[in-house]
Amino acid sequence: MTDTPAAIAVDTGDLPLGGGLLAIVRPALDRLAHGGVLAVLSSSRAARDDLSTWCRIERHEHSCLTDENGRDRHLITRGALGVPRGVREHDVTLPQRVDPLTGRPRITSADVLAAAPFPARADRSTGLAPRGARVEPGGPEYPFALVERDRVAPPEVAQLFDQATSSQWDASRDIPWGDVRPLHPALEAAIGQVMTFLAENELSALYVPSRFIARIHPAYAEVAMFLATQMADEARHIDVFLKRARAAGGGLGVSSATSSRSLLSLFDPEDFTEASFLLSVLGEGTFLDLLRYVEEHAPDAATAEIARRTRVDEARHVHFGVAHVRHALSTDEALHRRLEDAVRRRAATLHDLASVPAPIHDALTVLAAGSDEPRAIARGHERYRALLDDMHEGRIKRLITAGFSPEQAQALSDLHTPNFM
Ligand SMILES: [Fe+2]
Ligand SMILES: [Fe+2]
Repeated sequence: MTDTPAAIAVDTGDLPLGGGLLAIVRPALDRLAHGGVLAVLSSSRAARDDLSTWCRIERHEHSCLTDENGRDRHLITRGALGVPRGVREHDVTLPQRVDPLTGRPRITSADVLAAAPFPARADRSTGLAPRGARVEPGGPEYPFALVERDRVAPPEVAQLFDQATSSQWDASRDIPWGDVRPLHPALEAAIGQVMTFLAENELSALYVPSRFIARIHPAYAEVAMFLATQMADEARHIDVFLKRARAAGGGLGVSSATSSRSLLSLFDPEDFTEASFLLSVLGEGTFLDLLRYVEEHAPDAATAEIARRTRVDEARHVHFGVAHVRHALSTDEALHRRLEDAVRRRAATLHDLASVPAPIHDALTVLAAGSDEPRAIARGHERYRALLDDMHEGRIKRLITAGFSPEQAQALSDLHTPNFM
């Protein structure tokens, strides 16, 4: 009986079972595959019976007990139930990279993803276990709907999450608010209107991703984490736009029925990729051009800085949306058709909305004019027309980058909502 080969041996001194012995025995068993044998040296008389009882309860086999120089030598064969051995995570060492800005070492989420890649399919019975943890069998199934890597998790997401966390800014402190002075009343009213419109649209960009976070399997946690940063960005954008509207007496403008109907239709898709396509590729993509326009024609440094900072954040949201859609399209031929259908369905529900909401049309014209003097307004109108062309061209480019043909991109851009988002 003494010649059973033990893969691992541990010495538990005179520890009794209830006095710490298991803290040595359990991790040692964890290192063994099912059927592996552990030798336990013990001088505790009490452990003699307790250890074999514990093995029976935990479904390990207590195979023999012998005397070795006056001490007990237990042999335990690891049972088939219990936590699977899996990959030994402690073999992973994350690289430390020097941060170019601070010179300090940093550990990136992109390196975490490289060390523990997304599985092609996630298992609902692993619940909220972090990817890489060894999961004890017997846990409940969670109702996660998004369990396929190619539909939810583009490989760029960890890098985008790193960028997002290092680029957070403060709407109270990081805007040169001291620069804001009361403007000509027509211009101040235009600013209030533009900021009202931006804030209303940003609210949809805050709420729509929130509908999907709890559906994402934690094996793709970086996607949920990225969406959380996107929501924090949108919260800051709403805050900063409303602060600017009120900073110099302009106050809030009109919320139009066109905007309201357009934004409501963003809540229709139950599919994450469709929602991300409509919101981020088409809507937030179009907002990049709008924010560039606001920055170019801003009447003060504070407004310009608000537009610049929010555009940098938006570019990241658009990047994620395009990466998500491109990755999904590259693995699913039928998805082109479904995304086109989503755009057509939305266009059909908005078919009677012929043009850009009048309050925002007028405000963007006055903003680019710089005043309400007729010759200036003529120039502002030209610039506004050029903005609509830029938006159309930008959408086509992004649609092609996402994986559509130039003809498809042209048709989809033509169907885009007159509300921009
Ligand atoms: Fe935003
Ligand atoms: Fe956004």
